[in-house]
Amino acid sequence: NNPSGDSGSGSGVVAKMQKAKKNVVVFYGSQTGTAEDLASKLAKELHSRFGLSTMTADLEDYEYEDFDTFPEDTLVLFMMASYGEGEPTDNAANLWTFIMEDAPEFSNGGDMKPLESMHFAVFGLGNSTYEHYNAIGRQLDARLEALGATRVGKYGEGDDGAGTMEEDYLSWKEEFMTTLREERGLQERDYVYEPTIELEDVYDLSVDSPDVYLGEPNKNHLAGISKAPFTAHNPLLCPIKDTHELFKDNKRNCVHVEFDTSDENIRYTTGDHLAFWCQNESIEVDRFLKAFGYENRRDDVFVVKKLDSTTNVRFPSPTTFDTVTRFFLGINGPVSRQLLTQLVGFAPSKEAEDAVRKYGASKDMFHESIASKNYNLARLLLELSNGKPWDRVPFSFLIENIPHLQPRYYSISSSSAEQPNTVSITAVVERNRGPDADFDCHGVATNNIFDIKEAMAGKTTGNFKLDGARGSYTKGDAIRAPIHIRHSNFKLPSKAGAPIIMVGPGTGVAPFRGFIRERAHLAKSGKEIGKAVLFFGCRHSKGDFLYEEEWPNYTSEETVGKIDGPFTESNFLELHTAFSRDSDKKYYVQDRMRENSKLVNELLLKGAYFYVCGDASRMAREVQTTLAEIISKERGIDFDEAERIVKKMKSRNLLQEDVW
Ligand code: 2AM
Repeated sequence: NNPSGDSGSGSGVVAKMQKAKKNVVVFYGSQTGTAEDLASKLAKELHSRFGLSTMTADLEDYEYEDFDTFPEDTLVLFMMASYGEGEPTDNAANLWTFIMEDAPEFSNGGDMKPLESMHFAVFGLGNSTYEHYNAIGRQLDARLEALGATRVGKYGEGDDGAGTMEEDYLSWKEEFMTTLREERGLQERDYVYEPTIELEDVYDLSVDSPDVYLGEPNKNHLAGISKAPFTAHNPLLCPIKDTHELFKDNKRNCVHVEFDTSDENIRYTTGDHLAFWCQNESIEVDRFLKAFGYENRRDDVFVVKKLDSTTNVRFPSPTTFDTVTRFFLGINGPVSRQLLTQLVGFAPSKEAEDAVRKYGASKDMFHESIASKNYNLARLLLELSNGKPWDRVPFSFLIENIPHLQPRYYSISSSSAEQPNTVSITAVVERNRGPDADFDCHGVATNNIFDIKEAMAGKTTGNFKLDGARGSYTKGDAIRAPIHIRHSNFKLPSKAGAPIIMVGPGTGVAPFRGFIRERAHLAKSGKEIGKAVLFFGCRHSKGDFLYEEEWPNYTSEETVGKIDGPFTESNFLELHTAFSRDSDKKYYVQDRMRENSKLVNELLLKGAYFYVCGDASRMAREVQTTLAEIISKERGIDFDEAERIVKKMKSRNLLQEDVW
């Protein structure tokens, strides 16, 4: 499943390490690419600093039975992200099932402390705005110890919620390196870039040759076909059926997109996520190529040669500099302080070198002058060098050190029962500028989506290659985009008669549009359906009120406040809206919930499922607290006890969250 065709799928990591003479492996459980990026940074640094022979490993590419056969002098490191409700990432799911069993079946069998020979360290990546902060990192760390493994240094973790992930990593890593130096007597060396890949020019191929990859993720795509199964390694190039703007104001556009999945072997169920494979804006691709002196070489063809058998190259070649920059590198993300320090030796002038050294050395200065200003790497480097290209930076260094461009996930806003062959999403196009920022921060994927909408209306902004990947984005009249489906646990009750309460301000309403359409469809086909209550919030009653014209299809004055059915497709929904900026006083979904506390409590007593979708940082938490307040007030019990009830609802799946 990886483009270079050398995945270790099903194989033992210990054997692979022995063969490649490695003594450190850094596994990653990664969903959005951050853990993978840090794993790669850690492996590289352990090599360059101490001369250790390191490799990174995607957890999904290995079996785990041989974890009890690591030689004592091997270091086994884990960069583990927690996802959603404290769940493992998709690529760590198999490890989780295996290692969390009462007695995992390791190759030597039946020991009380099977992992005695393993020396490990875990760094967790989490988000403190979610309830189960770093659950996976913490549990894995404890589990490995319980299985007899020896921890090296301390467990570490980073917090995306506080925006300190990189700094948390850097301080854990420094301490870890000190431990290694002291406990293992390792000698330090200065940083020198030692490539693990080499780019070799191919002069007899041109950008037009059919064998050159121009954004296609694998061979099938190069041949112009997308073949099931569609996964995080293999998207479907999916025709887009319809796009329209739900609203726009001076800073935001909200777009509804419908993907036509009728011809294809791709299935979803209501509540799933759609992964949209994005590409970088042309203006940023140009800036990047200019910053590193590749403007005139953008269409030159090269192949990637591995200098180390364990290196995982994430894109196929032969390909071009433009292609790799546009489709595979996350060039528009925030600048990494560590990466900046590694660029010191490649600076094009003394001034640029001094500047990079200065910002790289000081956490505070870096944050004040760079991180908070929304610089991306190319913009920053060009500024520090007064526009001089950083042409001493090898392109292989960029490929190795810039995070891989990841698909973005959207909650699906259609119902699979009603529309099995249409998948829709609801996306707000972001062009934000933070309070201290000098530049707008363009959401890469949402602006792709906006461009697609414009193109469907016959206008193109030229920001993206809609005929990218060898024109296969457009086929006949259809515009297509690469997607896959990610299955989620955010699901309607299996019993259609169970009542549901949904809280979804802003685009958080997306999955609930799917839920409501699904219930209406079931009612139409004769099923008895339960009451549905939707708490929706937005800024104004006119403008950003999403799907305003659809809701009256399901609501009726007569059933307001009514709990027991029978309900029909046109009266089962009760909609409560909170418009936050229509008056001087802020009005949020929580306020509406409180006003309807009796209704909420009675529905819960009837076995209602409670759903929250949208902002994780504040809204989802506050909604959960409000829920406990309502239970406490209506049932005349302590707040603590009400909170325990809410917890129990969570563990029984009666409370589900889809938050970001
Ligand atoms: P605001 O932007 O006016 O503060 C969708 O984004 C809606 O959610 C908006 O009306 C927004 O209001 C509101 N919102 C912002 N913060 C919220 C919070 N903590 N809880 C609930 N709603 C919130």
